[in-house]
Amino acid sequence: DKDIYILGIETSCDETAASVIKNGHEIISNIVASQIQSQQRFGGVVPEIASRHHVEQITLVIEGALLAANLEPADLDAVAVTEGPGLVGALLIGINAAKAFAFANGLPIIGVHHIAGHIYANQLMQPMEFPLLALIVSGGHTELVLMEGHGSFKLIGETRDDAAGEAYDKVARVLGLPYPGGPAIDKLALESDDAVEFPRAWLERESYDFSFSGLKSAVINYKHNLEQKGGTIVPSHVAAGFQQSVVEVLTAKTLKAAKEYNVKQVIAAGGVAANKGLRASLEMTFEKEGIHFYVPPISLCTDNAAMIAAAGTAMFMDGKRGNMEMNGRPGMPL
Ligand code: KG4
Ligand code: ZN
Repeated sequence: DKDIYILGIETSCDETAASVIKNGHEIISNIVASQIQSQQRFGGVVPEIASRHHVEQITLVIEGALLAANLEPADLDAVAVTEGPGLVGALLIGINAAKAFAFANGLPIIGVHHIAGHIYANQLMQPMEFPLLALIVSGGHTELVLMEGHGSFKLIGETRDDAAGEAYDKVARVLGLPYPGGPAIDKLALESDDAVEFPRAWLERESYDFSFSGLKSAVINYKHNLEQKGGTIVPSHVAAGFQQSVVEVLTAKTLKAAKEYNVKQVIAAGGVAANKGLRASLEMTFEKEGIHFYVPPISLCTDNAAMIAAAGTAMFMDGKRGNMEMNGRPGMPL
């Protein structure tokens, strides 16, 4: 059979990325232009500024991905692009670049859900086995998704307020750490010799939903109370306590769902899946249960286009095609 080469494009948030994937699982090139320095100046992602960075970078990144792959547009089978969810202005830069590239080169275009992309990052490491449970934890999402086959996504739990990564970023700000807060808290937590006790948001017994805003408030209150008494917080102890609470709830709910749905494979995805504490906890838990657990390397956990091309290849094989009417869908359902 002929090899399938798909160009992936991702611009849903703050990374401008393009990648070529062979046969849905082999990374031929993977280019990510980060805007992190710019965001550190503003303490987060400013949508309008993100869009401007995407405009500056997108052509270079696409050319770079083809160059690194040593391929011509004519060698490609399709262009896959993140259609949503995300910042609409940011999404539109990638979508319009994909449309222009596809039109100019006579290629089909495929619209990919960003979270499907995060899940399919795992396909770049090992084949998926179904039924599969995915824990998606990123700056915008905290979801448990059950997959019974390729392209089948059933949402069984989600956050009712902040996403896990959002909680990390907000707590980091309280602790005076730079943006993005996840890696900084992770590092402090692992180095810490003690941990402040914070509550766990279990919600209803049967629920696979999550909540992180109460934990965030608990951290803020802890700091205020201590400062009112003339004390000061030990940032590493707060970081460790916060991380323990997040990791314990994420691990326990993922384990409960994995057992209830009798899944063959559990995967983690999204930027917070880069968290060392969370990775260790999930690895240990599923090892003990004898359930296959995988998490991609950190570079494939955070936003990238290889994951979009991988998910796009599964859709391509399934006969799915988009068209030139494609629009950014900020609230696109999975
Ligand atoms: O998936 P991602 O790159 O972008 C979104 O689609 O949101 O995730 C970014 C989020 C940020 O909130 C960042 O703080 C968090 O992932 N993150 C981490 C770690 N590395 C990145 N959170 C906890 N621990 C980390 N090591
Ligand atoms: Zn993401």
